[in-house]
Amino acid sequence: MSTLLEAQNLHSGYGEMEILHGVSVALDEGEMVAIIGPNGAGKSTLIKTIFGLLRPTKGRVTFRGADITGRHPRDLVINGLAYVPQSNNTFPSLTVLENLEMGAITRRSSPIPIPWSRVADPKVRSRLLTDTQIRKRAVGTIELFPNLRPKLRERAGALSGGEQQMVALAKSMMLDPDILLIDEPSAGLAPKLVDNVFSKIVEINGSGTAVMMVEQNAKKALAIAHRGYVLETGRNRFEGTGQELLHNTDVAKLYLGG
Ligand SMILES: Nc1ncnc2c1ncn2[C@@H]1O[C@H](COP(=O)(O)OP(=O)(O)O)[C@@H](O)[C@H]1O
Ligand SMILES: [Mg+2]
Repeated sequence: MSTLLEAQNLHSGYGEMEILHGVSVALDEGEMVAIIGPNGAGKSTLIKTIFGLLRPTKGRVTFRGADITGRHPRDLVINGLAYVPQSNNTFPSLTVLENLEMGAITRRSSPIPIPWSRVADPKVRSRLLTDTQIRKRAVGTIELFPNLRPKLRERAGALSGGEQQMVALAKSMMLDPDILLIDEPSAGLAPKLVDNVFSKIVEINGSGTAVMMVEQNAKKALAIAHRGYVLETGRNRFEGTGQELLHNTDVAKLYLGG
């Protein structure tokens, strides 16, 4: 299988404070990878560094072999990366439909010239969408999330936590990404809703989108992931297939609650 995304020896953090001390992870074409580890291990920091929200002080990130280290998220999104943050991942005062449309805003072709040089790139230009195309994509995306169909005109902020997480996923799928980076999709959800969200992620992955997912719910995440990485205090601690990690006695004792 070919490597789609690779982070090598990442050092990153906030200001003077280094949080990642040389973390390496990889994601293959079509793969689902889970990043687990205790609170504060640096999982969110890793995802934010990969997505260009934080610039690493050392190490590099490659996407399809091209160096994307420290590239602005705006440039990554247009090239096929999408990111679902752990919180504040919908626009609560907008309707579900408006949220979906906003999901593709970074691919909207502007009637006025955009002062960024990126639109000069033919590959970028070929991925821009008109408003009609965005609306069409929203209708298509809703097919993947039938539970949201009756709620299209409701404000996202009025939905349940599980439904809002579905809106966040649907919104990111508006970009038709090659890679979806998801931070803690199950945070704050009741167990039954966790299962719904996880099966939706499996479905998204099954349709060809590679997924890198950070999760506190380590058992469930490893059960659905092809491979996993355990981070601890900003370093790689264990890695293996989801099943290997689930059945590793050290991993189980330390990170899976026995
Ligand atoms: N914006 C921030 N500014 C300063 N420190 C931060 C910030 N975000 C996270 N941290 C610190 O970085 C460390 C790792 O956090 P994080 O990557 O969120 O861990 P995890 O996602 O594994 O729980 C923690 O000690 C946290 O307090
Ligand atoms: Mg986190």
